[in-house]
Amino acid sequence: MAYLNDHYLKLKAGYLFPEIARRVRAFTEANPDAARRLIRCGIGDVTEPLPQAVVQALHRAVDEMAIRESFKGYGPEQGYDWLRHAIAQHDFRDRGIDIADDEVFVSDGSKCDCGNILDILGHQNRLAISDPVYPVYVDTNVMAGHTGEADAHGAYAGITYLPCTPANGFIPEPPQGAVDVIYLCSPNNPTGAAASRAQLEAWVNYALQHRAIILFDAAYEAYIQDPSLPHSIYEIPGARECAIEFRSFSKSGGFTGVRCALTVVPKSLRAAGADGEMRPLHPLWLRRMTTKFNGVSYLVQRAAEALYSADGRSQVAALVSHYMGNAQVLREGATQAGLKVYGGTNAPYIWVATPPGVTSWAAFDRILGTANVVITPGSGFGSMGEGYFRISSFNSRANAVEVAARLQSLRW
Ligand SMILES: Cc1ncc(COP(=O)(O)O)c(C=O)c1O
Repeated sequence: MAYLNDHYLKLKAGYLFPEIARRVRAFTEANPDAARRLIRCGIGDVTEPLPQAVVQALHRAVDEMAIRESFKGYGPEQGYDWLRHAIAQHDFRDRGIDIADDEVFVSDGSKCDCGNILDILGHQNRLAISDPVYPVYVDTNVMAGHTGEADAHGAYAGITYLPCTPANGFIPEPPQGAVDVIYLCSPNNPTGAAASRAQLEAWVNYALQHRAIILFDAAYEAYIQDPSLPHSIYEIPGARECAIEFRSFSKSGGFTGVRCALTVVPKSLRAAGADGEMRPLHPLWLRRMTTKFNGVSYLVQRAAEALYSADGRSQVAALVSHYMGNAQVLREGATQAGLKVYGGTNAPYIWVATPPGVTSWAAFDRILGTANVVITPGSGFGSMGEGYFRISSFNSRANAVEVAARLQSLRW
């Protein structure tokens, strides 16, 4: 008899986005006219086409693959040297951050990396995860058997939840007690908050003191506008000894459908073996990548490399400023509609408090039914997300302007 992984049975049934899709489908089937004016600001997927530099690099790479002399088969599992170099140089060393080329691992997405990293971490680690949060951090730990059952609010036993509220600016403080693995995401999905240097320093100091590891998700670092905010955890002294950083080209280069990301594992990062001896994690991640992964396609890595060319960089900046322009339009629209608005200044997400007494899902239904706009209910990101909803600014400018206008028509 074969057994299944019982931990999967602990996962809460309706994952957020399927439930949103179900409600939108039911609404549009019942209201075909409203369906035609539907605008989606729910799932955080990009809408604008790939930068021209990327398109040209893809064409060139296809041509290379078409002839024997330049054809490429399997590449290095951890990424081609030229892409690892471009990343380490432009994203880190040019910003004064000490990261070597071979500390960068190229992958097909940050979502996978956030889950896969658990392969090299012990099952006994005590976890701290912010609430609300990108659901992948929690669910991958549930799948790996690192939690108990969920309670009525969806909180899993065995996780230290770090509440993110207006009182702490949606950036959690380190807990009183000891934890071993901490998930931080800045700029944040879903709240749009971005951690200051002092806030990250507090976390790095905590991690060093407790010999903990910070899993730092910087998928939205390209959206930081405030020059005082750190783009990388490695801007903080000591982070090379206590942090792994995830980055993605999904939202910077519009790569959600192309698929390319990276994880930085510094060689100086160590964790304890069962015997208590501190050992480096870099060889374990290298081993994991070379054993379970066969690399990102040559075409996609050439596309990612093009993001670092002079043209690519200015085209990425234009994409980011397009979405951040939408964020400003949406922020103003929601504020004018009398709503309390957070985020959207260093991140492409706007986090909106529902009016008193209105739950996140009630707000979702009201906004869908009245304004024909799809948003994301905050409670889907964790129990502290109740009483909020997220508006994504990944859209055309015309749609952002239209959504801002329609928010004015809402009567709660
Ligand atoms: C916080 C965060 N991390 C990671 C990802 C996933 O990125 P990728 O497309 O590289 O898998 C997302 C995507 O929405 C995200 O919001």
